[in-house]
Amino acid sequence: RDRIPFPSGPGPSADGIWHGLLPVQALVQPDVPVPPGARASIVVQQGQIQWVGPDAAVPAAWQHLPRRQGAGALVTPGLVDCHTHLVYGGQRANEFALRLAGATYEEVARAGGGIVSSVKATRAASEDELFAQAALRLQALLAEGVCAIEIKSGYGLALEHERKQLRVARRLGEVFGVTVRTTFLGAHALPPEYAGRSQDYIDLVCNDMLPALAAEGLVDAVDVFCERIAFTLAETEQVFRSAQKLGIPVKLHAEQLSDMGGAALAARYGALSCDHIEHLSESGIAAMQAAGTVAVLLPGAYYALRDTHVPPIQALRDAGVPMAVSTDHNPGTSPALSLLLMANMACTLFRLTVPEALAGITTHAARALGLQNSHGLIASGRPANFVLWPLADAAELAYWFGHQPACTIVRQGRIHVD
Ligand code: NIG
Ligand code: FE
Repeated sequence: RDRIPFPSGPGPSADGIWHGLLPVQALVQPDVPVPPGARASIVVQQGQIQWVGPDAAVPAAWQHLPRRQGAGALVTPGLVDCHTHLVYGGQRANEFALRLAGATYEEVARAGGGIVSSVKATRAASEDELFAQAALRLQALLAEGVCAIEIKSGYGLALEHERKQLRVARRLGEVFGVTVRTTFLGAHALPPEYAGRSQDYIDLVCNDMLPALAAEGLVDAVDVFCERIAFTLAETEQVFRSAQKLGIPVKLHAEQLSDMGGAALAARYGALSCDHIEHLSESGIAAMQAAGTVAVLLPGAYYALRDTHVPPIQALRDAGVPMAVSTDHNPGTSPALSLLLMANMACTLFRLTVPEALAGITTHAARALGLQNSHGLIASGRPANFVLWPLADAAELAYWFGHQPACTIVRQGRIHVD
């Protein structure tokens, strides 16, 4: 609590030749000729990756740059956490106890707990309070190598409070020097003052909240919780149409507790991702495949809710749908602050392979945010976001759990030891 939630400064420049590195092959631009097991160099200048290749082949043009000893460290791109609800007031440990005593998530929500209880705490908090609380959580994720993160609104459910959450998200990105993508999730739950008036609330989301927040530059994507305890397919489509009119990409909390047909709808709107998808159907998978929509797996929520309905991993794999893995950090169903633990759980609980899990927290997660051209892959011409891990085997990233490996982080061209 006494920790000051601010970085001590922007960190020293990472410009130089980072050499003696062991790249995780699948996470480096495919045309780079580093033979498996060979040491590689990454050249950084002005915060950008200028060149990647074998140690022995660094072009003369860069040789004047300072040399930085990689000492055989494994190198991955900066991690990407593509689905979080990081900004909120309070916590919901009481619901954890209720669920342990036998209540289900849906029962708690219908009894007035759940999302709505976080809405009360979020509305009561000032922007500075929300910032301070979220900053502590962000620091935990950053210390593990996260270089890009999605942050949703959805605990304000009224214009001024949704604005407050999104402004905090933007400020976190600026203060911590991390790429933040904001997602407007006004259609997360029905606020108590709209009880019995779902359509009126969706009209407010579409006609007032979304246009106003988009005009303020606070909305990079739009999301909806399409579920029997949240919003219907028709309401979801109305929100998607409004987003489409404004040219903002959509994504969806889809088929978490039941098959609502949300994934197929989202795919029709060219969704960046469909997330949770425990109950995703064959036709949903086919629609996502055709639209190039990413499947975002959230094993933290699956675990915390003691769910037993595993997402259709083999069918997604067979269809070639890219799979991302994220924390879904939120106070209700996934108070998780380790993306590497989620990679471990995606393997253990969902049977992803290690390479799939690693692509899931880098390359495919970047795609789920529309950041595939700048994040999630070590490649020249991109901002310098990469992590050096003193590990012998890439599988260790998904193998250890409850332990944070020491690492050196280059984020937005700066060296961070958060
Ligand atoms: O991603 N499923 C809906 N939204 C969140 C949970 C939100 C909450 O319970 O506060 C999720 O799991
Ligand atoms: Fe979520």
